[in-house]
Amino acid sequence: MNDHPMTNQTLDQIRRHRSIRRFKDRPVDSDTLSGLVSAAQCAATSHHVQAYTIIHVTDPENRQTIANLAGPQPWVARAPVFLVFCADLTRLVKAAQSHGIPPETGWAEQLIVATVDTALLAQNLMIAAESVGLGGVFIGGIRNDPETVAQLLCIPDQAFPVFGMCLGYPDETPEIKPRFPVDMVLKKDTFFGPNGEPDPEEDRSDMAEFDSLLNAYYRRRSEKLKDRDWSKSLGEFTGQIIRPGMKAFLRKRGFFLK
Ligand SMILES: Cc1cc2nc3c(=O)[nH]c(=O)nc-3n(C[C@H](O)[C@H](O)[C@H](O)COP(=O)(O)O)c2cc1C
Repeated sequence: MNDHPMTNQTLDQIRRHRSIRRFKDRPVDSDTLSGLVSAAQCAATSHHVQAYTIIHVTDPENRQTIANLAGPQPWVARAPVFLVFCADLTRLVKAAQSHGIPPETGWAEQLIVATVDTALLAQNLMIAAESVGLGGVFIGGIRNDPETVAQLLCIPDQAFPVFGMCLGYPDETPEIKPRFPVDMVLKKDTFFGPNGEPDPEEDRSDMAEFDSLLNAYYRRRSEKLKDRDWSKSLGEFTGQIIRPGMKAFLRKRGFFLK
């Protein structure tokens, strides 16, 4: 667990998070799923818009197609539950129309609102699921081919699939992955801390420290995974163009036009 002296049941449970990709052959009943979603919906929501829809994908063929296009990621087909989280402005558009108001759509701000709302809901759902002994993993891989996902799941314009989530009873207990030290992400008064200026030396030493921490973690997990510095692997990732079709896809769905 990430070390910090502050502790209570909720904090400990949040700190025990690890992504789960192998599940027991035990179903998650529909009352449990709806109870978790109902708790997840209590997340804060921008302007109370609740700009999301979750699709519980049960059709085995659709699950296999999505598992393939996402990687392949076999756990998408095998997990007891697979959900697709959509950012969804359709209800807002209908609300405006029902009052004779021409809806303003396509603004970048609405893309942020709907995506943030969806992410807050999903993270709440992950925590809720973990609190009842389930585990899971987010699946951003569905954005490899969002058009096919949208077609398979009949997702209309003014909505788009943001990510998926596998859920089930864990059949593995991977070691918890370290996060940056708090000082690296919590700054006082300005982005750079109290001096208001970047400190490249501090950045370098923070990064080197985290690289060796993460390397040790991967070495413990598997010989195959050793020598995976955070800065090297994420640096390489940042040097690649990822999913270049996303802007066109969002525009086609009616998002991010203005
Ligand atoms: C939006 C999002 C998308 C992700 N997509 C995938 C994915 O497609 N496949 C996967 O195996 N893990 C995926 N992950 C899981 C991350 O790799 C994982 O959370 C991260 O490496 C930290 O590990 P941990 O969750 O075990 O602490 C995703 C996580 C997030 C938040």
